[in-house]
Amino acid sequence: MTHEPVSTLIARRVARREFLGLGAAVASMPWLAPHAADVTGSLEFTEVPHGADGHHHLPPGFTGRPLLRWGDAVMPGAPHWLPGKPDADAQQTQFGYNNDYLAFIPLPLGSNSSDHGLLCVNHEYISSSMMWPAEMVPGGSGYSAKVVAAEMAAVGFSIMEVVRENGVWQAVPGQYSRRLTASTPFRIAGPAAGHERLKTAADPTGTVALGLLGPCAGGKTPWGTVLSCEENFQFFFAGKADGVESTNHERYNVGRLTLFPWNRHVDRFDVAKAPTESNRFGWVVEIDPADPTSTPVKRTALGRMCHESATVTLNHDNRVVVYLGDDTKFEYLYRYVSHERYRPAMGKANHTLLDDGELAAARFSDDGTLQWLPLVFGQGPLTPANGFHSQADVLIETRRAADLLGATPMDRPEDIEVEPATGRVFIMLTNNSSRKADQLDAVNPRPGNWFGHVITLDPQAVADGVDHAAQAMPWNVFLLAGDPRNPDHHARYPGPVSENGWFAAPDNCAFDPEGHLWIATDQGLEWTRTGIADGLWVCEMSGPQRGRTRRFFRAPFGAEVCGPEFTPDGTTLFLAIQHPATDGLPGTGYATPASRWPDFDPALPARPSVLAITRDDGRPIGGQS
Ligand code: FEO
Ligand code: CA
Repeated sequence: MTHEPVSTLIARRVARREFLGLGAAVASMPWLAPHAADVTGSLEFTEVPHGADGHHHLPPGFTGRPLLRWGDAVMPGAPHWLPGKPDADAQQTQFGYNNDYLAFIPLPLGSNSSDHGLLCVNHEYISSSMMWPAEMVPGGSGYSAKVVAAEMAAVGFSIMEVVRENGVWQAVPGQYSRRLTASTPFRIAGPAAGHERLKTAADPTGTVALGLLGPCAGGKTPWGTVLSCEENFQFFFAGKADGVESTNHERYNVGRLTLFPWNRHVDRFDVAKAPTESNRFGWVVEIDPADPTSTPVKRTALGRMCHESATVTLNHDNRVVVYLGDDTKFEYLYRYVSHERYRPAMGKANHTLLDDGELAAARFSDDGTLQWLPLVFGQGPLTPANGFHSQADVLIETRRAADLLGATPMDRPEDIEVEPATGRVFIMLTNNSSRKADQLDAVNPRPGNWFGHVITLDPQAVADGVDHAAQAMPWNVFLLAGDPRNPDHHARYPGPVSENGWFAAPDNCAFDPEGHLWIATDQGLEWTRTGIADGLWVCEMSGPQRGRTRRFFRAPFGAEVCGPEFTPDGTTLFLAIQHPATDGLPGTGYATPASRWPDFDPALPARPSVLAITRDDGRPIGGQS
């Protein structure tokens, strides 16, 4: 903590100078993409204006078509979706609610196809008031076991075959189709598997958990599986436990705010009746989309937190590195490094790399370096004296372990991406309105941070790649979001910002094959503060306009934008539009939605949907002029 003026803190670490000139070591790396030097044009599109209404908006010459909407068929033979009629049997064969992370896996497997693939989709949670007539929402007389069963079937994960024919994408139920819900069995693996604190009356082995709760963002492994991250699992539980679990649950806010009171009909969501059930959530989950018969796995070695994303990269020595964020105000950034090396010839057998490795939390110093603090039982304060009796305890209580090590409380670490051309790690910090002036440091330099910021880690380039496993590495602030024309925002960007090029609450992000950084936003209720709907912005990372940010997409109001995922050739961008027409819109709901996006059918409410966005001329979305 420091007490320096905001302007001093910002000036110290904002990376405009570093951004404009890559370090000599990085620039000379042999595997760097050459485009930084070769590109002469810049991204061509007419920027979408700020504003807010019930439609989505793209630049002229681009089209976004709904590919998958809540209720669309996933499994072959799924029944036609009926609005306002909760039906768990139907729902577990249909596309779930609140689509978030998207992963495109080309088909045939192992190919580079951009016309055929598997779309893997997280369904984070439900928005009852937009899903059901008013009497069926919590508090209503019709909030029955039947409604809860349908909601439990609406969260989780979908795997769907998608095909592009004559330029138009279609979702085709078939052999790979799969739905995972809040009732699907997941195997628990890694150091905490089978531990007493993961056992329940229903599962005395502590190795099989039912369901995936709050899956937000995720990641892809080099061996072809998808990682899905359990984020706000605590909102699905109610009640209090005694003893050691009481402190644990408090640290994870379990029982503090129950947004989804399934406990009224299902006992395991009642903490008093099942005190260890919530310990079985908050993990990174590995799913093999190529094998619909496979059991998905919770990988406990990656720690337990409100996991936002799990960004996998290969270290220069082929150890697997996963960057992880805990998306809650004042929580931490983490890194996992496998002990063994990735061996391509071993294929899926490489998954054991996610069971045996070192998890560490980040401590940022104001001098621009960060230290990775290992969360290893028996080291430092992680001992029986502090209530840790095994590595399982350290992982189940990851947050408390990181507290004791002195990790740096952050402004909500969200999505993370590694820039392919440089190995630089980009981390979205959405916002933290609760940060006070006496809680500032150089990496979280604004009090009442309504707008969020983006930081980078700059691991060192070595002869055969990048050293992501180093114990220390430099960091920089890449941008401070907000409106740079409003001095109260203290916003700073790496390049020119057009009238519509500023944004707030950076959340999910992606690099396209041309190397541009795409940033999606989630202001939540706070979009009424900025007056601009959430969307997708692109930052040019090379060429004459490097550092310039512009708005490419505007979501219907009350929605957040998730997913961004490109096909390998960059000609299609899949975007997940979550909870349209809900946040910040008084009176909106099933009967009177503020928008009926994307169908605009007077009989239907707004529906979360995945858009497939293409350019009318068929060229890459991030094509250069
Ligand atoms: Fe589900 Fe952190 O957004
Ligand atoms: Ca997110």
